[in-house]
Amino acid sequence: MLLMQTAVAGGDPANGKKLFAASQCLSCHGTEVFTRADRKVSDLNALESQVRRCDANLPTNWFDDEILDVVAYLNDTYYKFGAATTNAAPVPNAGTQ
Ligand code: HEC
Repeated sequence: MLLMQTAVAGGDPANGKKLFAASQCLSCHGTEVFTRADRKVSDLNALESQVRRCDANLPTNWFDDEILDVVAYLNDTYYKFGAATTNAAPVPNAGTQ
């Protein structure tokens, strides 16, 4: 059974936050790339692909579930795409986080 509060199926944003904080993700860019006006990532699938591409530059070698945790964290914190790629019901309280 999956009862997810978060938009990303399988992703645990709290664990993603820890993984992200312990990573060297910010060695090439800061978090401003997640919020800049012309950011490239425009949906959850693109975000997952980008996290995989970027992770491949690091010795971290996150497992798939860890990638999804980080995607969930980045989405909750910066992108806020909603449940576009899952069957989960959309969260109706956008703007409260
Ligand atoms: C080797 C350098 C490097 C590392 C390490 C790196 N990135 Fe990136 N990342 C980039 C580059 C280059 C871009 C594209 C920036 C641009 O287009 O200006 C990018 C873009 C991104 C974007 C898309 C931003 C947008 O435009 O929406 C995300 C999300 C991202 N990185 C996440 C991560 C995460 C998570 C990690 C850690 C696993 C990470 N990056 C580590 C180089 C890196």
